[in-house]
Parts: sequence; structure tokens; C-alpha cells
Amino acid sequence: MLTVKQLPDLHGKKVYVRVDFNVPHKGEVISDDNRIRAAIPTIKALLEKGARVLLMSHLGKVDWKKLKKGEKTQEDIDGQMKKNNLCIAVEPLKKHISEAMGHDVNVAFCPENRGEALKDAVDALKDGEILLAQNTRYQPGEEKNDPELAKEWAGLVDAFVMDAFGSAHRAHASTVGVPEILKAEGKPVFLGFLMIKEVENLTRCVEVKPEDRPYVAILGGLKVSDKIKVIDALIDKCDYIIIGGAMSYTFKKARGEKIGSSFLDEASLEYAKNCLEKAGDKIVLPVDSVITDSFEPVEGRKIEVVDEIPEGFEGVDIGPKSEKLFAETIAKAKMVFWNGPMGVFEQPEFQSGTKAVCEAIKELDGKAFTVCGGGDSAAAIKQFGYKDNFSHVSTGGGASLEMIENEGHLPGVDVLR
Ligand code: 3PG
Repeated sequence: MLTVKQLPDLHGKKVYVRVDFNVPHKGEVISDDNRIRAAIPTIKALLEKGARVLLMSHLGKVDWKKLKKGEKTQEDIDGQMKKNNLCIAVEPLKKHISEAMGHDVNVAFCPENRGEALKDAVDALKDGEILLAQNTRYQPGEEKNDPELAKEWAGLVDAFVMDAFGSAHRAHASTVGVPEILKAEGKPVFLGFLMIKEVENLTRCVEVKPEDRPYVAILGGLKVSDKIKVIDALIDKCDYIIIGGAMSYTFKKARGEKIGSSFLDEASLEYAKNCLEKAGDKIVLPVDSVITDSFEPVEGRKIEVVDEIPEGFEGVDIGPKSEKLFAETIAKAKMVFWNGPMGVFEQPEFQSGTKAVCEAIKELDGKAFTVCGGGDSAAAIKQFGYKDNFSHVSTGGGASLEMIENEGHLPGVDVLR
């Protein structure tokens, strides 16, 4: 596989760079530009080689089903997306890219993402310049990996760089279609620096070496059904799987415990039972819970710590005995993979369990290889100030899980092989 470590001279060459700038945002205000900063080394390396850089990213999701027939103009999409705070025009990213580059490069923006306007904007680029094109997902063909769209995009450039780890599990036109075509034409396709780092670190969690045992996985999140494949893969790979967060109540129920009105993923109950049978003592569940009678932070709501959850209450965090149990399990680890918070950490009353896991990982004091698999857990460790206590914090929640599920394979990486 070619990587950006092997970039040739690129003066006069146009390069399509797929980045994942799908950053947290409220309307046009971007609250965390970590993903933008993570892609800067690749962009800088390309500019140093004289490349003309075309940046392509999605931002949010477009619900095409919700868009009524005949309402598929850019304006309609913009309107719907703004209203739902979903997928927005990527123009606000321009400022953040420029800041992250150190303000020494001008970033142009093209409000279109195909057709003459985009072609003209790409052709107008000079060596060492950057163009950010409109949200890739404004094209219905993007998510379907439409060959016509991929052909048009590939036709704009001389080379491709994949640095969108967060989107590498999506076989879309911009992640898979374009490099496939360029490769077939004998044009170079490269893996970016962010991708190299992510793939190296997560491969270690997939191909487990004896010196990385005990290997402890920590899973949280809402639905068991979203994580069945990764739980199966981790049962085979890990020595312990700690399950906290909302999905732990489905496992507790499967073990015959009372869970009150806690979230239950009914459809996965049978799976959870089989899992507990198969994994035996490998699976570590909470032994107590922080419960409340109102998820909404209303005045006077009851918050208690209990071993068994009574009717009318729901579990919203692990309790202190579970914190201790989880910390003792983590203390044995030589390698940790963590995905999913232990409780509703967005509310200060229910942060303790997630913080306790952070603290237990900090206690490992660099003596274990520790990976946080992106998404909510990455947001939590950043919020609580533990980011530097991890060997690697992934920029891709879904992608890191899929990499573990699929034995290290991701469509956006495999296409470059
Ligand atoms: C992410 O944020 O996980 C990636 O950008 C992929 O986004 P998606 O789940 O909307 O495909």
C-alpha cells in the first residue's frame, strides 16, 4: 500500500483528499475541530510536495427518505438539514482548516460538489493551494457509491489520498469509488498520516500479541443490537469484557436481575443470554447502579444507588461497587480497548462511572496499551481531561468498531491495497 510517506513530487498535480471533517456542530457553529486538526499533517505534506489539494468531506447525515419527491435541489437540502441540525454546507469548516494550517494558506471554497463549477474551481488551483468542495452527501449518489459520480470526481484529479478514518467503514463514492477508478487508470492512491496511525494502533487491538494480555475491552452505549458483531469478535479476542452503560441492563435482565424501567433492548435479550453462557466469567457486569425516577433533570427527582433496580426507576450510571470492580479488572490489563460511556455523562450527576474508568486507565500509568474507540467515549475523556492518559484516541467511533469486527478490514483501506 502506498502511503503519504512515499509521496513523489506533485507540482502541477491535482489530488483528491478524502478527509472526515464530520465534526460536532450546532447549526454553523463547530464545537470541536479535532478531526480537522488530525488531518493537517497529510494536507501539509501534500502542499510541501507542490500538490493542488481538493478536500472532500461529508458533514452530518442527509435523510433522503424525508426529502419529498421533487424537493431535491440544493436549497431544499440546505433548508431541511438546517432545520434538523443535520447535514449542513461545509463552508464553516473553511475557517477552521485555515486556522489549523496556521493561517499561512488560503483555503478556497466551492459551493458545488460536481459539474462545471467544481471542475473550473479545481482547474483554477495553483501548486500549493487548497480547495474545499461542498458536502459530499449533498449528492444522492455518494452513499450509493454511484459509478457515474465516482467517475466524475476521479476525472478531476491525478491522485487520491485517503485520510478519512472515521468514514473508512463506508463504501461510498468518495471513499471507495474514486480510488477504485484511479487505481484502474494506473494513477497513485495513498494512505494519509491519520489513517496510518489509526490502522497501526487498531490493528494491535485486532491481532492480539501474547505480551498484550490480559486484554480488557470496555463497552458501553445504548443498544446491544448495534454492537453484536463487535461483542462476538471481542469474546474471541479478549480476556475480559466489561459491559457498562445502557446496554448493561439488557445483560443484567438476561441474567435474571431486576432492571426496573431501565433501557431494555428486548430484541437482543436472547443474544445476551447466549453471550453470557459462551463468555462465562469473561463478561464483567455492573453489580450496582445509580438510578433515577426521572431521566430529565427536573427539580426534586430522586437519585439513589442500589444493587437491584426497583420498578419506576431506571439505571443511569454504574454504582461505586461497580466502579471498584471495573477498576480492579482494568488494573490487570496490558491492553485496553474502550468504546461507550458507563452512564449518562452529559448530566453531571451521572458522570462518576465514566470518570472512574478514565481514572483506572490513568492508574495504568503507561504500562498498558490503551485505546479509546472514538464517539461518545472520546468526547467524555476529552471533557474530563484524560485524553493524554491514552496511548491512542481514535477519530472514528463506527470505523474502529468495524475494524475490530472485520478482523482489521475496512472498505476504505482495502481499496488502497
Ligand atoms: C462518523 O462520525 O462516525 C463518521 O463521520 C461517519 O459518519 P456516518 O455514520 O454518518 O457515516
